[in-house]
Amino acid sequence: MAANMTDTSRVLIFDTTLRDGEQSPGATMTHAEKLEIATLLDDMGVDVIEAGFPIASEGDFAAVSEIAKNSKNSVICGLSRANFKDIDRCWEAVKHAAKPRIHTFIGTSPSHREITKLTQEEMIERIHETVTHARNLCEDVQWSAMDAIRTERDYLARVVECAIKAGATTINIPDTVGYTLPEESAEIIRELVERVPGADQVIFATHCHNDLGMATANSLAAVNAGARQIECTINGLGERAGNTALEEVVMAMRVRRDLMPYATQIDTTKIMNLSRRVAQVSGFPVQFNKAIVGKNAFLHESGIHQDGVLKNVETFEIMRPSDIGITDSNIAMGKHSGRAALRSKLKDLGYELADNQLQDVFVRFKALADRKKEVYDEDIIALMTDSAANTGEDQLQVKKLRVICGTGGQEAALTMSVGGEEISATCEGDGPVDACFNAVKEIFPHGARLKLYQVQAVTDGTDAQATVSVRLEEDGRIVTGSAADTDTILASVKAYVGALNRLIVRRTKTAPDADMKTVSFKE
Ligand code: KIV
Ligand code: ZN
Repeated sequence: MAANMTDTSRVLIFDTTLRDGEQSPGATMTHAEKLEIATLLDDMGVDVIEAGFPIASEGDFAAVSEIAKNSKNSVICGLSRANFKDIDRCWEAVKHAAKPRIHTFIGTSPSHREITKLTQEEMIERIHETVTHARNLCEDVQWSAMDAIRTERDYLARVVECAIKAGATTINIPDTVGYTLPEESAEIIRELVERVPGADQVIFATHCHNDLGMATANSLAAVNAGARQIECTINGLGERAGNTALEEVVMAMRVRRDLMPYATQIDTTKIMNLSRRVAQVSGFPVQFNKAIVGKNAFLHESGIHQDGVLKNVETFEIMRPSDIGITDSNIAMGKHSGRAALRSKLKDLGYELADNQLQDVFVRFKALADRKKEVYDEDIIALMTDSAANTGEDQLQVKKLRVICGTGGQEAALTMSVGGEEISATCEGDGPVDACFNAVKEIFPHGARLKLYQVQAVTDGTDAQATVSVRLEEDGRIVTGSAADTDTILASVKAYVGALNRLIVRRTKTAPDADMKTVSFKE
């Protein structure tokens, strides 16, 4: 695509939620969830979807291949280190797409060169060989200089020139450790565009991490300096402090078109739904005051603000909730609401369900409406979280739970299905949640350690549902589970079991060695 993109005001959106986002500790997604997110991204108008790291595991390979087969409009990209084996595996996965892309990278800064034990000249040679190899397989090749921002400027210009000569069509300049500031981000891109021979034949991309909270500002500064592809994730998901948030850069360019006269092809009304789905499947809730998609982003608490907004929305609102797909009909539903009303409410909230999925959610909705007088949008969104946490694919399922608590001691009697076999255990504990978690451990022994247990009320009132998030760690693997229920203890058990199900999936993955020491590059 777009190596010679003629519309210079067009900025390509490259979404890496399924690759860099999924690299975030604990954000593992299942195969079905990855396919669903890819479909939503494609429908939203994302130009390039980085679907995964095919050599990382059989699971990653299968997900990238299937996303490639199902893709409609987006370019489907896979990541590979700078060796032939990675690149070949990546091509095997992405080649099914109507528009495939190979993305290959190498760390070019002094510390990365030290790890790979390559001299400057040896690295140039490696870049030439690997990009040429990728280009012989695929017309669309993206090359990234990992840690570009901390690479010597002259050397950066040389490696970029080498990648362009070898056939790269997109050159990515990542701020891998989130170190840069807007002025510098712009300066580096401007310098490369001006001085590297062949720069006018390629698209420059910006890929920022958010360690100093600068990712959005740095990405926009890079665009002002000539970058025409922004790499980003939904909700800013990603390693450490995350990546540039898609919703922030897209809405910033839209709201401040006067200062940033650039266009994307993103259908912004799909942003909120994607944000919710990514929060659900990754187990990373969106902070309340997060720009654009946080729960409070459009709430006006103070009297002065409320009054101003009622008189003229522009007084305190720079964009409308509907711009990102928030509907303002938070009309409560109840036990008399039928399937059609639920379907229409789900549609308003951005969920399009197949009949069997609707049936499953409807059963849960009825059970909730029996316990709770009024069911609000937040309840329905939480219900969707719960149904996502327990799919038919799951190895472990909660079947029955009885808990005794109070002054006489705490005891939990739990029955679970483990790979189809029902197993029960009764355990005591230091509080009802501890008793339940002990019962889970007895039924499914494991060495994972609990790193986070968090409870949040979905709405007001004592009949409110609780959303529980659980994070577990086992041998460096971190996984998260979340579930919602008016019964906080039951939600806790489901969240714990949800995290264990993800751990089971995660155990089959072996993280590739990022420094390439173990792979001879032409293997
Ligand atoms: O942050 C980074 O440098 C990356 C590269 C692999 C593109 O994610
Ligand atoms: Zn990154």
